[in-house]
Amino acid sequence: MKFATIKGWGKCLPPAVLTNDDISTFLDTNDEWIVSRTGMKERRVSHVHVSDLSYVACVRALAAAGVNAEEVDLIIFGSCTADEVVPNTASRIQLLLGIKTAASFDLNTACTSGMYALSVASAMIKTGAVRTALVIGAEVISVAQDWTDRNVAVLFGDGAAAFVLQGTEEQEGLLADELGCYADSRDILRANGYGLRYIDGQNILGTIWWDFLGQEIFKKAVMGMCEASAGAIAQAGLSTDQIDLVVPHQANLRIIEAVVKRLGVSGRVFLNIHKYGNMSAATTPVALVEAIEEGHVKPGMHILLPAFGGGLTYSAHIIRWGERVTPVHIADIELPPCEKSALEMVREHMSRPRAGGPF
Ligand code: UT7
Repeated sequence: MKFATIKGWGKCLPPAVLTNDDISTFLDTNDEWIVSRTGMKERRVSHVHVSDLSYVACVRALAAAGVNAEEVDLIIFGSCTADEVVPNTASRIQLLLGIKTAASFDLNTACTSGMYALSVASAMIKTGAVRTALVIGAEVISVAQDWTDRNVAVLFGDGAAAFVLQGTEEQEGLLADELGCYADSRDILRANGYGLRYIDGQNILGTIWWDFLGQEIFKKAVMGMCEASAGAIAQAGLSTDQIDLVVPHQANLRIIEAVVKRLGVSGRVFLNIHKYGNMSAATTPVALVEAIEEGHVKPGMHILLPAFGGGLTYSAHIIRWGERVTPVHIADIELPPCEKSALEMVREHMSRPRAGGPF
């Protein structure tokens, strides 16, 4: 196949909403600071595992594509908040979907994971290694959050999105992608205590604290998203004028504004940061799903998706949208009901034991 097109799309946002005012009940912060510095008004907190959010997003994406789960022969779960490491989380999503055999793996590049997954799945379809792929960007960051640190706690939320990809001879789907990582900046964003190097007889989870140099991340994010976007636009043989819609990673409204200004693409940008904050790997995928659902994506459009994440990874993808902008079917599926408020769930996370001190 020459191209891998997006045939279906679906998202799953947990229902519990955590507002800026909610956060200001336990941290020294306020709505005015958060809105003016980030553009965020609220975010979601999940009552279920990330695999459960992903499963619902996948069922919705398969219905939107009009594709049966048995046809799927590749699942890539893009995330940095996997349920488990062994077995991987993609295999649980596969099991829930009732897919007997598929290549299923997890991919972690932090916030860019869903976008890296899109690159890998598209490439595997183009080589003929697989025919139908599920690409997932999902995160339950609330569990890995340090809710005592106002520098990071206000910024993140939970969510999931999935896409169904299939091969086509039509020139649509992923036209160009530029991926990279400023590894010399890997120390500016770190979830300490989360991983095997931290094992010292303590519970791994419950001891998380973040290194987070906000302003350094900000500068690298703008640089990475701009350079990758310029590279992807050139690779696709397009000019900036031919980009119809920009769906960026939504980590900070001011980062997006800086990128948009440098690239000269103002007036063509989709935003949903005010509703969900930064959902890490789920952010750009959820934004693309909402851009489709809200009618911003038209047949044949060129869509630019710049992103960045811890590592410090960056990416930019150019998609030429196909003909169909409406789902084939709408899935009749919902998450189990949530009995607790977002604030109650956050307080539970805060009550887990903490061990201090850097590694
Ligand atoms: O996907 C990767 C995710 N990472 C990011 O997206 C981070 C990128 N960076 C940013 O988004 C911004 O740097 C932040 C939103 C994190 C911070 O914005 P800033 O304009 O760079 O603020 P700052 O760090 O310079 O802090 C300004 C002030 C400080 O007080 P002083 O030292 O001036 O008295 C902070 O202590 O704001 C204070 N501050 C807060 N105040 C109220 C920091 N966080 C908060 C808060 N509420 N939540």
